[in-house]
Amino acid sequence: MRIDVITIFPDMVRAGLGYSIVKRAQEAGHVRVAVHDLRDHAPGKHRATDDSPYGGGAGMVMLPGPLFQAVESLDPVPEARIILLTPQGETFSQAKARELSEAPHLVLLCGHYEGFDERVRRHLATDEISIGDYVLTGGELPALVIADAVTRLLPGVLGNAESAEADTFTDGLLEYPHYTRPLDFRGWRVPDVLLSGHHAEIAKWRRKEQLRRTRERRPDLWAEFVPSKSDQKLLAQLAEEESEENP
Ligand code: ADE
Repeated sequence: MRIDVITIFPDMVRAGLGYSIVKRAQEAGHVRVAVHDLRDHAPGKHRATDDSPYGGGAGMVMLPGPLFQAVESLDPVPEARIILLTPQGETFSQAKARELSEAPHLVLLCGHYEGFDERVRRHLATDEISIGDYVLTGGELPALVIADAVTRLLPGVLGNAESAEADTFTDGLLEYPHYTRPLDFRGWRVPDVLLSGHHAEIAKWRRKEQLRRTRERRPDLWAEFVPSKSDQKLLAQLAEEESEENP
């Protein structure tokens, strides 16, 4: 996969890509990431990338010219996704990350100020993505979020031990609790079942904890979740345990 990021703060984005799995994935050739300075495509001595809005009002608007030029200079393949980062976009999710991981080329456009000229949205972008219902100072952090979430899903990037299969959200449930050494930490013990060596019991306990957590913490995910026959059994056990705890 190829990922291009267009930004007025290239160093900020480069810094965020130089660590951990994303760094390794680039070194191994699973992803080719390039960060481009939007100002290289801005006209005039001042290399402005924004201007005041037609119709008046506060704030500045990103100029269409430099953004179109910057994207065109990359010669994107026809299947490339040209993504505007904006709080007005579709909310990013694991499903969206998976969908984008199947594209050959992503171009991430980082906005600033009040937003993009509407013609960028209509005639240049293929997607508009928000990383959540809050307003950031620019699209750089969202671009890093998307590059990270997509890269770790590319074939070969995660080893078996880190597999994306068990990720929270992959099957619509949160993850089960994890424990490592020591067995007793300040009097808080690891649950006995995890020490039993009984793989089927451990798997059942983990699934039950996933169900419990998701039901407690994420009513939105729970409403969409369709429990299998064996999940229904575990849910009945949970209900029994709870009625024993609170008779
Ligand atoms: N730019 C500013 N805030 C943003 C957000 N929440 N998501 C994507 N881009 C943004």
